[in-house]
Amino acid sequence: MRDAPDPGELLAWYDAHARVMPWRVGPAARAAGVRPDPYRVWLSEVMLQQTTVAAVREYFRRFTALWPSVGDLAAAEDAEVMGEWAGLGYYARARNLLKCARMVAGELGGSFPETREGLLALPGVGPYTASAVAAIAFDQPEAVVDGNVERVMARVFAVEAPLPGAKKELASLAETLTPTERPGDYAQAVMDLGATICTPRSPACGICPWMADCAARAQGIAAELPRKAPKAAKPVRHGVAYLARRPDGAWLLETRPEKGLLGGMLGWPGSEWAAVVPDHVPPVAAEWQEVGEVRHTFTHFQLILTIMATETDAPPGSGVWLAADRFRPSDLPTVMRKAYDIATPTFPPVERRHPGA
Ligand code: ADE
Repeated sequence: MRDAPDPGELLAWYDAHARVMPWRVGPAARAAGVRPDPYRVWLSEVMLQQTTVAAVREYFRRFTALWPSVGDLAAAEDAEVMGEWAGLGYYARARNLLKCARMVAGELGGSFPETREGLLALPGVGPYTASAVAAIAFDQPEAVVDGNVERVMARVFAVEAPLPGAKKELASLAETLTPTERPGDYAQAVMDLGATICTPRSPACGICPWMADCAARAQGIAAELPRKAPKAAKPVRHGVAYLARRPDGAWLLETRPEKGLLGGMLGWPGSEWAAVVPDHVPPVAAEWQEVGEVRHTFTHFQLILTIMATETDAPPGSGVWLAADRFRPSDLPTVMRKAYDIATPTFPPVERRHPGA
């Protein structure tokens, strides 16, 4: 009989191989008594739900340079935070990030709650983030289960039931392994194992600290797990976006309504998005040219956006002109940025007016 995987063996591996991350207190420093900053742990975990460790590094660096403490973030302007979040996606999370920072800095006197239950009461903090912060920042023995951990559990216990149906079972299995010794290091160790050795396509079983105890490896099916139920195709929505530029280089933009998709973000004026393009009027009366289309996948649908462009200085019916030197394409959410990338080559060079010329 194989033994159950031993958390101690994984911790020994982590002591030698922990990945270095800007929000992480490594195993040696932890052993020497250094505690992680709960603000940095919380911020990194919220960001890591959107994207990879590699992409988060730069966002994390910028956020913590601009706002080194939860009090600093709480005092920031909404629009500045939304601008810095641009590109990470899921903009409702950025709005909840601010709400949460303001609750912690205000009502809670600047300190994050230390338990999973306390953390769950914060805006935008769901079961994953609550467990991750409780374990990593406060060394609570909470099971932290992300996609990496699901994959590791599916393999070491040879769970053949497909995702997403198997989520509950995989989470209970993760709980059975979570130790009371060094639970913060352990949580990060399982994630590192999943990210570096127990990888989706070709796991490096030969160097895995849990090799001897892995049921899927014994059966020769590690790379096949976790199985996945076939995904339903996403519905398609269509829309039109209008990129107008003034001869002096200003762009016609709008701030999207707080509620709804990309709420509070900067965007191009345009139609609603629906199964067929809804009736609408362009934001300014001009000669519009169709310059291409953008495809973008959101959580619940795929968007096909027709891009119209014009150069004009007619007065707009909606949107506001943003001067060239105040416009940063990086402030746009990704779908709007794609539209910009497609349209810009079609615009003539900006007129330069030389005094006296
Ligand atoms: N993915 C999400 N959170 C992580 C963490 N703390 N360490 C490694 N990978 C992660």
